[in-house]
Amino acid sequence: MSIAVTAASGNLGPLVVDALLERGVRPGQIVAVVRDPAKVDHMAAQGVSIRQGNYDNPPSLAAAFEGVQKVLVISGSEIGRRVQQHANAIHAAAAAGAELIAYTSVLRAGDATENPVLPEHVGTERVLEESGAPFVVLRNGFYTENYVDQVRQAMRSGELLTSAGEGRTASATRADFAAAAATVLTTPGHAGQRYELAGDAGWTMRELAETAGRLGGRQVVLRQLDESAHLEALLGAGTPEPIAEFAVALDRAVRDGELDVLGADLAELAGRPTTALEDGLRAALARPSPSRGPD
Ligand SMILES: NC(=O)c1ccc[n+]([C@@H]2O[C@H](COP(=O)([O-])OP(=O)(O)OC[C@H]3O[C@@H](n4cnc5c(N)ncnc54)[C@H](OP(=O)(O)O)[C@@H]3O)[C@@H](O)[C@H]2O)c1
Repeated sequence: MSIAVTAASGNLGPLVVDALLERGVRPGQIVAVVRDPAKVDHMAAQGVSIRQGNYDNPPSLAAAFEGVQKVLVISGSEIGRRVQQHANAIHAAAAAGAELIAYTSVLRAGDATENPVLPEHVGTERVLEESGAPFVVLRNGFYTENYVDQVRQAMRSGELLTSAGEGRTASATRADFAAAAATVLTTPGHAGQRYELAGDAGWTMRELAETAGRLGGRQVVLRQLDESAHLEALLGAGTPEPIAEFAVALDRAVRDGELDVLGADLAELAGRPTTALEDGLRAALARPSPSRGPD
């Protein structure tokens, strides 16, 4: 059994590889597919097979998936180009005869409307359905790590801005999502499933502010704004317009409850409770690696 993980040089991919190793998959059975092999020297040193594969280059993907039985297509980061890129990966995996293609989508891709990252994930799920290959969709909720920059800023300024109202986010850490992915790749019975993966407990922005206050050792005041005031505040603080608009759209999705799915899929697949907000943030704040926004 050989398992390929694409985008293995990102933040999520290495955690999936670690989780596969923890589940007893031998390093030589794991194929880490990356654009730049130099980025994963540490995996090669562990005995993991490294193959070059670029979502823009179908022949590279065909070679990367040769002889592989299961493929995890981790969504890429080049917004606006991803449906075609993911389609290239899915078609290459199907042509290679993969027994299972797993894809990291977004929570509630089937019925949410406001989350600005929906269209490319919905488009990719459609490609999967039409591929004819056995597939499983991992509809991932927000990474807790997405909030690290906001929390750092709140610790500095003593305030947290939001237009998310009382909406709740059931986030979980990348390691939680990676553990679930590894289970899906190593146990039977997942073909045809669309898992809605979210943390065990949702939290409001007020709770995030309180958590930031505890972690930072100072009071953090939550400022609830309407969307236009939120946008204005972000632009006034020097946030580039597309990023500010994206942030306000994300808060709208949170306000509408699109990131608060209370099911147990994630904990069940991970085989343990998901990481609590404060624990996830504390660990992420202690790491030097940069966080990024949800996309
Ligand atoms: N659920 C959430 O809250 C959330 C948050 C952020 C992102 N996401 C999504 O989840 C994915 C994984 O998260 P992450 O934290 O690992 O993201 P990340 O650290 O930004 O990693 C993105 C990965 O995509 C790879 N990639 C981008 N374009 C590619 C291409 N043309 N061909 C092959 N690989 C390509 C990158 O390769 P290089 O190393 O070569 O650049 C990198 O390995 C993201 O890419 C994004 O789609 C979800």
